[in-house]
Amino acid sequence: MKTILCSILALGSAIAFAGAAEAAGGGTREYKHNHWHFSGPFGQYDKEAVQRGFQVYRTVCASCHAVEQLSFRNLGEKGGPFHLDACPAGVPESTNCSSPSENPVVKALAAEYEITDGPDDTGDMFKRPGLPSDKIPGPYANAQQARAANGGALPPNLALVIKARHHGPNYVYSLLTGYEDAPISVQLGAGQHYNPYFAGDMSQLLKAEYRDEEGHPLEGVEIPQGGVLAMKSPLADGIVDYADEHVPETVDQYAKDVVEFLTWASEPKMEQRKSLGVVTMGYLLILTLILFFSYRAIWSNVEH
Ligand code: HEC
Repeated sequence: MKTILCSILALGSAIAFAGAAEAAGGGTREYKHNHWHFSGPFGQYDKEAVQRGFQVYRTVCASCHAVEQLSFRNLGEKGGPFHLDACPAGVPESTNCSSPSENPVVKALAAEYEITDGPDDTGDMFKRPGLPSDKIPGPYANAQQARAANGGALPPNLALVIKARHHGPNYVYSLLTGYEDAPISVQLGAGQHYNPYFAGDMSQLLKAEYRDEEGHPLEGVEIPQGGVLAMKSPLADGIVDYADEHVPETVDQYAKDVVEFLTWASEPKMEQRKSLGVVTMGYLLILTLILFFSYRAIWSNVEH
């Protein structure tokens, strides 16, 4: 028993020690917290924010990042940013606007893109305007081309990044709004950009005067939080024009909106999932009540 206790204690202190060591190594800054419409068991997407976020994605991020598994039609599906319950004025009556493939907003949007299709009867590839059924095209033909254009770094598929990172929405929001000048103790290389929310090891970038002969950080030198990444701050105030003039055109607002869009892109069916959850809970509650009262009814005549 004693040995077990000792080993538990030893393990506990080892874990505590490892935690302390990590804290000394910089780590990342604690993410900013935003109140997201979609969080919580009843949370839903803010449709207008998702629309604006798509605009930010398209205007700013799409030149480097794809949203790979998304098709235009997804934008018009129930819960999607351009879903319509009824047709806008001027659309022929025979159109079923709630269907993503007939939705006029989605059709017009897809047609603004040029899609490579083919081969045609003579074996050549050709270009045509996009259709709702097409995938939203990414900026590069393949990963090699993407790396070559970005100094060797691969811009990840943004439709998955929210799910792929811990606390995805708060992380991406913090990253986009968190760029800072590098601390004076570090020397950035070409194409490196400092961000306190990006995971990295800043001790590698300490200037020579902060290291001993073996290259280790001198005692008492604080290792800055965060890391360096190949993406420079993509957002700046005023770079995207919002149709609604009441919405601020700031880095903070763009970051919130694009995160709302990317979260929708990572789980377009969240709203259906949550409402199914609510229905299921309601069903179970009613079932519990029925069982409880039938139990009381059945046993009510039994003498104690
Ligand atoms: C000029 C090209 C470019 C633009 C524009 C751009 N990015 Fe990036 N982004 C990159 C590259 C390259 C990386 C990979 C960085 C690395 O690993 O060092 C990256 C990485 C990321 C990451 C991943 C960070 C991680 O944890 O790995 C996120 C999230 C991201 N970008 C979001 C965005 C958003 C949102 C926009 C639009 C507002 C945007 N990016 C615009 C090039 C770009």
